[in-house]
Amino acid sequence: MTVAELLAQARQRLKPREGMLFPQREARAFLAWLLAKDEAFVLAHPEHHVPEDLVRRFWDAVARRQKGEPFHYIAGFCPFFGRTFAVAPGVLIPRPETELLVSTCLALPLPPRPRILDVGTGSGVLAITLKRELPTAQVVASDVAPRALALARRNAGGHRAAIGFALAHLANCWRGPFDLVVANLPYLPETWRPQVPPELAFEDPGALFAGTDGLALVRPLVADLPRLLAAGGFAALELGEGQASQVVCQLPPGLEPYRVASDLHGVERVLVLRFKGR
Ligand SMILES: C[S@@+](CC[C@H](N)C(=O)[O-])C[C@H]1O[C@@H](n2cnc3c(N)ncnc32)[C@H](O)[C@@H]1O
Repeated sequence: MTVAELLAQARQRLKPREGMLFPQREARAFLAWLLAKDEAFVLAHPEHHVPEDLVRRFWDAVARRQKGEPFHYIAGFCPFFGRTFAVAPGVLIPRPETELLVSTCLALPLPPRPRILDVGTGSGVLAITLKRELPTAQVVASDVAPRALALARRNAGGHRAAIGFALAHLANCWRGPFDLVVANLPYLPETWRPQVPPELAFEDPGALFAGTDGLALVRPLVADLPRLLAAGGFAALELGEGQASQVVCQLPPGLEPYRVASDLHGVERVLVLRFKGR
């Protein structure tokens, strides 16, 4: 069967569902992944022969996707900040808005050999990307979920990023001082649970929800920042809509707001705090 024939059949069979805006585009992405090519190849080579076994795997993947399983769990990888990371069920799929957290961190006036902590590292995308972009940095990272930590270690190995990992609640196991604490902790309010898109049901609720207002983990981490940060150090936090102002209202002594970065939807997504010192 050719690429064109397979995609024509997919067009007949695939039904748009919530969370899948462009079924034909997804079919093309699945085919590109199975052929180990990019989507441009699939577009440019309608005559390319697709072997039987790949056709079978294509329909298996499409069937899983139709049941709502996220594309990246089926494919087993996800792009982030120009690199490819392994992803696995039970560990949060990195989101495009988290790239804003990285670019915000890279624009900060950090010392030449910054000491960086990533709290709630998940698949390790933040720690690994920062280590690769700032090779002189000393980077450590932790997560409360053993499954996440195992995946983060695997990704760090794949990207040859030397990072110290630890299993811990928030930053309890670290002493500091750090020049940068970065965290994309769960920030969805528990009350949202019944209304979230069905795709989120495939992800670990412990990576998504945090108390009635979503700040049940961010708040104690912010309270701990004066212990963790060097004087002049920064904390960069990914947050949900309306949360940056709530966090700024309750800052412990010595911390001041430094920057807020909004995402493409205009949501104040990244809050940067600066520690003046004790
Ligand atoms: C929203 S995910 C972010 C993962 C990754 N940093 C990213 O940006 O893709 C939040 C992560 O925080 C972790 N987490 C949840 N509760 C935690 C806690 N009490 N202490 C440390 N990490 C926690 C979850 O296991 C999950 O990996």
